[in-house]
Amino acid sequence: MEPISLAKALASFDALWSPRVVTTVNDYDVRVAKVEGEHVWHAHDHTDEFFLVLDGELHIALREPAGERTVVLPKGSVFTVPRGTEHRPTAPEGASILMFEPSGTLTVGDRHDEVPDHVDATTGHALG
Ligand code: NI
Repeated sequence: MEPISLAKALASFDALWSPRVVTTVNDYDVRVAKVEGEHVWHAHDHTDEFFLVLDGELHIALREPAGERTVVLPKGSVFTVPRGTEHRPTAPEGASILMFEPSGTLTVGDRHDEVPDHVDATTGHALG
């Protein structure tokens, strides 16, 4: 095992909404992704999902019991989507993000709207 530069990891691929697994911690993945535009509404029924914005600005729309709202995460912000909460990340101007979630977690969750072509339904790809 060697240290991993997140900048180099992000520079190694271009695909949007297609996370790379940079390392694992016990049974969790640390994943990075480049994002722009809209993801898809989905929910993870069995796990929270942690986001850290490395660059740019990420918006996460949430459907909560009290109604729908959108949280805005500038660079350097963290947010955890609670398990079971429908959410849709978007990045109007583009962003680079880091996610921390159990290995095997699908990007589109256990429930989701129809997945558009630009969204990769994956449990994360190995770094090239
Ligand atoms: Ni999610």
